[in-house]
Amino acid sequence: MKYKRTEKYNIDLVNEKIMGPNPLKLEEELMDGNKIKEGSQVMDLGSGQGITSVFLVKEYGFKVYATDLWSNPEDNKKFFSEMGLTDKEIIPVKMDATDLKYEKEFFDAVVSTDSYNYFGRDDKFLDEKLLPFVKKGGYIYIVVPGMKKDCHDNFPDELLLSWTPEQLDYIHDIKYWNNIISKSKDCEIISIHEMESNEECWNDWIKCDNDYSKNDKKAIDAGACKYLNFIAIILRKKWDNEIVKIVLFWNVNSNKLIKTFLFGNNMI
Ligand SMILES: C[S@@+](CC[C@H](N)C(=O)[O-])C[C@H]1O[C@@H](n2cnc3c(N)ncnc32)[C@H](O)[C@@H]1O
Repeated sequence: MKYKRTEKYNIDLVNEKIMGPNPLKLEEELMDGNKIKEGSQVMDLGSGQGITSVFLVKEYGFKVYATDLWSNPEDNKKFFSEMGLTDKEIIPVKMDATDLKYEKEFFDAVVSTDSYNYFGRDDKFLDEKLLPFVKKGGYIYIVVPGMKKDCHDNFPDELLLSWTPEQLDYIHDIKYWNNIISKSKDCEIISIHEMESNEECWNDWIKCDNDYSKNDKKAIDAGACKYLNFIAIILRKKWDNEIVKIVLFWNVNSNKLIKTFLFGNNMI
């Protein structure tokens, strides 16, 4: 695919900030045709060094809470201001995804790029840890590094060139994610699908000059992409199941409807 939005960003800056396969390209594909309104309050969950959060503000006009556990929010704050953004547009927050401290139903939406596989593999995570902070009807857009088909009983040699079996336990196929996500009672699945982005994003990453990318290069150069993919998970928080009562006032003389009243359990 063509990454028109990503191409606007300076490649040296992107390479300095990314922590894995090109997250701007992944986010651009994930967010193509997204349903989140401009001006929405959005959590970038697992935002790393903040490049994906900057992208969400600049490209889609969201107000973003860049939420991350390992990165330093002071460094991110400096980066955001160098990118010309104010704290009305973007706020760096150090927080654990499994122990969020925001107000309940604070966010219109959540976007998570190349991070959800660290904390979202517990099937209780969505309903207990994340969805309470999302408004009813709010969207959740996730992209995780995945596998075309789980092979955890017998890893191909190419994968073991860069990653241990423990590290590979963070990466799974669509069936695995579908099984976890479908346990949620509080969200509906809009789509879980394999993305087009794959080798190109890995190739951008292994060109970066750091120890992690150098390690990952061994597997990618040996052809590991044939076993790997990226998986988009698009969800929506359900509305309450509401009982609606309808009362009709009928004029028996003229045989005409005078008024209609709707009562729901959330309307009082
Ligand atoms: C591979 S990096 C991706 C960062 C960023 N989204 C990007 O693509 O550049 C994964 C991120 O997940 C974050 N992370 C892992 N576990 C987390 C947790 N429990 N709560 C919040 N963030 C977490 C890490 O801090 C790290 O920055």
